[in-house]
Amino acid sequence: MTASRDLHDVVEEFFRGSFSTENPLITEAVRRMLAAGGKRLRPRITLLAAEACGGDALDHLHLAAYIELIHVATLIHDDVVDNAQLRRGVNSTALDYGNRISVLAGDYLFAWIFDNVTRRYPAPIPNILSATLADICNGEVLQLTALGNLDLPAETYTEIARKKTGSLFAAAAQCGAIVGGGSSSQIAALHGFGEAFGVAFQMKDDLLDVTADERSLGKPAANDLSERKTTLPLIAALAQDGGGFRARVRRFYDSPSNAAIPEILAEIDRAGGVAATRVQIARFVERAKAALEPVAPGAAKNGLIELTDALRA
Ligand code: IPE
Ligand code: IPE
Ligand code: MG
Ligand code: MG
Repeated sequence: MTASRDLHDVVEEFFRGSFSTENPLITEAVRRMLAAGGKRLRPRITLLAAEACGGDALDHLHLAAYIELIHVATLIHDDVVDNAQLRRGVNSTALDYGNRISVLAGDYLFAWIFDNVTRRYPAPIPNILSATLADICNGEVLQLTALGNLDLPAETYTEIARKKTGSLFAAAAQCGAIVGGGSSSQIAALHGFGEAFGVAFQMKDDLLDVTADERSLGKPAANDLSERKTTLPLIAALAQDGGGFRARVRRFYDSPSNAAIPEILAEIDRAGGVAATRVQIARFVERAKAALEPVAPGAAKNGLIELTDALRA
């Protein structure tokens, strides 16, 4: 069994040696994204899930890599959609190559991934991954239709998080369990784990957007606010507000100005939006860990629990 810490290196090694397409410009753009880093959480979860079900991580590197590449392609598109210039501490593909090449590079990469996945893996792996991509798009579209909405219910926010982020983590864990030889209850358990993990992960990402700085994130801070994305810290702060804060955010949404951002961030914290988000993250962390109950104790399960607990930090 491979220690969870080594899995990161194993995935890196695999990417360094093997990623190439027939389009040199797209190969270069994707290699640049891979070289810029990233946490490689989704492939790690795939490999840990495979091991937790009795498989060997080294036998499933292709699957783990395809899942990371689905993530990379969604990020290339997401930075076009969100108008973000920084990703993984370097210029986003959208900034360096422009929106037109970025849209085509993401499309090409999806086609390349699914061509390879269908060649290499039998049903239901390709079916799960294509349904996941549809979920991600549905989540991103739902999010776009909610832009600027200060009345966005927390339930709709959570639905967006589940679709745009929970779905890929769920597929990462579920597909890992399938190739690792898991029983149907273990496969279902890992799917449930991944989905709850992904919701907690997105909540953490949204929390960091209002609490962390660009340097530590490797992507723009307060970008959600600038994009008029109403995320959980803001929803929770608005719920405590007598009306003045809401009017201030409305003014910002109507005519965004960088000068207004620090005060809005401070108010989100003062009104309890940060604390309330931490409570919700803890809830989904517990849900993710509880989902692992049918998985046998061992190093891989501990690795999954460790990754989950880290979301509370
Ligand atoms: C970013 O995901 C997109 C979200 C779902 C918030 P990650 O935070 O996992 O991005 P990388 O892979 O580490 O760059
Ligand atoms: C996650 O949402 C993006 C996808 C699932 C494609 P965000 O828009 O919050 O991700 P970041 O903050 O740009 O990484
Ligand atoms: Mg984004
Ligand atoms: Mg974000």
